[in-house]
Amino acid sequence: MPRTHAAATAVALSALALAGCSSTATDDDAAASGEVQLVREGVLTMCTNPPYEPFEYEQDGEVVGLDVDVVREVADDLGVELEVVVTPFEGIQSGADLNAGNCDVVASGITITEEREENMDFSAPYFDADQGLLVAAGSGLDSVEALEGLQVGVQQATTGLDWAAEQGLSTVEFEDLGLQVQALRNGSVDAVVNDIAVLGPFADDELEIGTTFTTGEQYGLGVETGNTALLEAVDATLERIREDGTYDAIYETHIGTAPSEG
Ligand code: ARG
Repeated sequence: MPRTHAAATAVALSALALAGCSSTATDDDAAASGEVQLVREGVLTMCTNPPYEPFEYEQDGEVVGLDVDVVREVADDLGVELEVVVTPFEGIQSGADLNAGNCDVVASGITITEEREENMDFSAPYFDADQGLLVAAGSGLDSVEALEGLQVGVQQATTGLDWAAEQGLSTVEFEDLGLQVQALRNGSVDAVVNDIAVLGPFADDELEIGTTFTTGEQYGLGVETGNTALLEAVDATLERIREDGTYDAIYETHIGTAPSEG
């Protein structure tokens, strides 16, 4: 399918794109000239995997969240509409959705890893993350040791799964966070591992955060390998929203606190 072109409206963006130092892996003149190409004309499509509150989750039939708000800023800077494509995390993190032209950008609380960097190009980091443990309230499960011999629910293709496997834990895979937590509620798993920021909102009378594991992860937005013009545009928007306070406002809306500096 031929790609369409959306001219970057902001002068700063065009300048950045033209100044891009690499011209790899683009097979068409428009890309070489630094013009941002989109899968569909006039629309920036983003693949994401809800439920993953506060990053992407459904509200009144619409997908909202921190990731959606950040990518909407990119769309605004490009002068195009934003469209959210809901899809399994597996294809998001593997680069398959980008390579298949299912979306222009993947934005799904994706931790930047070396392996994933081989399959897509990442923006500058926009969020810091660690792993956490969600358990039944009062269960006393507050360490890796306590999980020995128990069943730990993990999300398919995530860094939480990798982390749990590295610890030698016995894991059960779920396609998304919703199914993971449902399994914990109905007792088919004893604990759930996922990014700490998404587990917090589940703490209630029945569930609590057992503990946090510092993994030092960072989220990035991903574009197809070699899509330099779009990557430059994404990074330019991230820089702008950091500088003009938009990012802090988005962060506060969804996380509830101001981002710690640095
Ligand atoms: N940060 C983790 C990872 O990159 C989990 C992300 C899951 N995201 C989602 N929207 N379900 O593997």
